[in-house]
Amino acid sequence: MPADQGSFPAVRPRRLRRTPALRRSVAETHVRPAQLILPAFVREGADRPVPISSMPGVVQHSRETLRRTAAEAAEAGLGGIMLFGVPERKDATGSGAIDPDGILNLALADVRAEVGDELTVMADLCLDEFTDHGHCGVLAEDGTVDNDATLEVYAAMALAQVSAGAHVLGPSGMMDGQVGRIRAALDAAGHTDAAILAYSAKYASAFFGPFREAVDSSLTGDRKTYQQDPANGREGVREALLDVAEGADMVMVKPALAYLDVIAAVREAVDVPVAAYNISGEYAMVEGAAAHGWIDRDAAILETLTSIRRAGADLVLTYWALEAAQRLLPR
Ligand code: PBG
Repeated sequence: MPADQGSFPAVRPRRLRRTPALRRSVAETHVRPAQLILPAFVREGADRPVPISSMPGVVQHSRETLRRTAAEAAEAGLGGIMLFGVPERKDATGSGAIDPDGILNLALADVRAEVGDELTVMADLCLDEFTDHGHCGVLAEDGTVDNDATLEVYAAMALAQVSAGAHVLGPSGMMDGQVGRIRAALDAAGHTDAAILAYSAKYASAFFGPFREAVDSSLTGDRKTYQQDPANGREGVREALLDVAEGADMVMVKPALAYLDVIAAVREAVDVPVAAYNISGEYAMVEGAAAHGWIDRDAAILETLTSIRRAGADLVLTYWALEAAQRLLPR
């Protein structure tokens, strides 16, 4: 390379990586507390938090500790809290999900009374924690999950959750037509302002493993007749478009890390906010490796959340939401 042509290479992207201040100023993606939603479990009858061994640091809350956690989440400026109930008794139709005195509905009322409108209160709308067979819907005579009978239960569950105080409902059972049926039930009852965050592209994932302990799941077998095949990306976009057409206010892709391409494709395809759920198994992998000293925990958490946002998620559901907002996110 002759000297009069200047030094090679002329284009040096490393110039903008030279100092932390420069790197900060050219970062394309940011994670803010308002973009994070904390999933939280509440266990009926618990008088103190019960640890979940497969998710170190995550607990099944008592009603009281859940209330306090919700207050902290509001204080930290989180985007919301998504509640899951762990009932003492289960039955074939998941009747505890509709009962106003069922644990999830009681907890929704507790949390809403605690935070008012300072924090968005969200409810997982699904039967799997409440059924003795552990499926997300009710079963037909032949043991298969009965889609349309399940929709009627979801409609009743939606009304119970909104009456208890939920701002946003998160139908996660992957029944066909669930968003439209729930929207119709809410509107007919005058709850036109209750929003729906639809779990649109939800895959039958091995990474849900630790969650099954978190909710004391009764499931034997799998959810492959309703949750999606991990092989299918286009179908995830189709599910999201269907949910928007049925009235979803926001859509979700779940899990997140093995489905970043689906997040990006859904982000392109819809004009509503897109959420992604950084699920139990994704949490457990990082915590497990960090506990062995194999990865830098804080850095791995930040990289995980940043990559989900970079893929196109406006909102991220993560068990690290509170810790990230309080301690990890750069201000
Ligand atoms: C269904 C539901 C599941 C999760 C959230 N909602 C489990 C499943 O479909 O088996 C998983 C969350 C996680 O793994 O963190 N109610």
